Amino acid sequence: MKKTKIAGIGHYLPERVVSNKELESLMDTTDEWITERTGIRERRFGERHKETTTTMGARAAEKAIADAGIQKEEVDFIIFATLSPDYFFPGCGVLVQRELGISDTEVGALDIRNQCSGFVYGLSVADQYIKTGVYKNILLIGAEMHSMGLDFTTRGRNVSVIFGDGAGAVILQPTEAEDQGVLTSHLHSDGRHAEELAFLSPGCHGGYHGAKELYGFSDSTFDTVFVTQKMLDDALIYPHMNGKYVFKFAVQKFPAVIMEALGTAGFQPSDLDMLIPHQANLRISQFVQKVLKLTDDQVFNNIQRYGNTTAASIPIALSEARDEGRVKRGDLVCLAAFGSGFTWGASLLRW
Ligand code: UT7
Repeated sequence: MKKTKIAGIGHYLPERVVSNKELESLMDTTDEWITERTGIRERRFGERHKETTTTMGARAAEKAIADAGIQKEEVDFIIFATLSPDYFFPGCGVLVQRELGISDTEVGALDIRNQCSGFVYGLSVADQYIKTGVYKNILLIGAEMHSMGLDFTTRGRNVSVIFGDGAGAVILQPTEAEDQGVLTSHLHSDGRHAEELAFLSPGCHGGYHGAKELYGFSDSTFDTVFVTQKMLDDALIYPHMNGKYVFKFAVQKFPAVIMEALGTAGFQPSDLDMLIPHQANLRISQFVQKVLKLTDDQVFNNIQRYGNTTAASIPIALSEARDEGRVKRGDLVCLAAFGSGFTWGASLLRW
């Protein structure tokens, strides 16, 4: 049976480096607090009038296409994972097709809205198409332009100091090789925690029970108008995160889903050559490493330099790990993510 291999990979990071010190000038925070609680020292922000989630995704895609040694016209399906799309609709899949100049091919474009686990979900979807022979060159992108939608006042500091911009992309192809390709993927969700990490408005929820109960909104908080002045005044147009609550689940679900993937394929943590965890918080990665008794050589982290880039964090980290020679042909690699939804998942593959 055919398997799915990562035939090409690339990433793109905007040039502008934003240090913790720079954030100190915008809100009541400190370099010490951010470094100690998250491990983040700096992040990248896209250029406001030149870059978008789509354009960054396209730049990463061009690198992945070149790395795979194919022409962009050979891409036969596009999957785009993001929580910070250029438009509410249409999604970034069609926009990146246009940005790459391959709209004439009329290939399908699918958008994935699974936040931090978007890349793992996307890989699993692509894997089904490749294994069954439907497509031969799937372009999978994870990209985020968080800097456009964060509250950079003290009110939003628990969220805004964490996130950064960037993009990563892969070309997925079929392989007959025994020692290469995706071995198993495991996807999970628990919608009971939906509003614990969410971007609530604008939206059609109208005070839907989750938001209402958790945040104590009154009916008048929402009216029939899609965007209200009150939404702006109450900062409902920015992401909400119950950090401690999310953290608690993340440190349980990450190890569990990694063990599930390893167990299904008949491996143990010690067999792993590289774990690429979604870069949510360095403390979460370190906790997972400790629980699974992994060495520093077995885990890749780059959140220190880029912050949390949500759907882009795994492909950026995987691309850097490959470029640095830390992921090599035949290596056993695990990609794992947890985030808003809650959704989480893991994929195990031979590079
Ligand atoms: O990728 C998506 C998934 N997301 C995650 O996995 C995030 C998981 N959660 C976390 O990473 C952590 O919970 C945070 C880094 C978000 C927060 O760290 P924490 O240790 O849980 O801090 P906290 O939210 O409990 O806040 C502790 C204190 C509070 O002050 P008081 O009430 O103790 O006086 C906050 O107001 O720190 C304050 N605080 C800040 N202080 C300086 C919150 N944000 C900041 C800030 N700078 N940026």
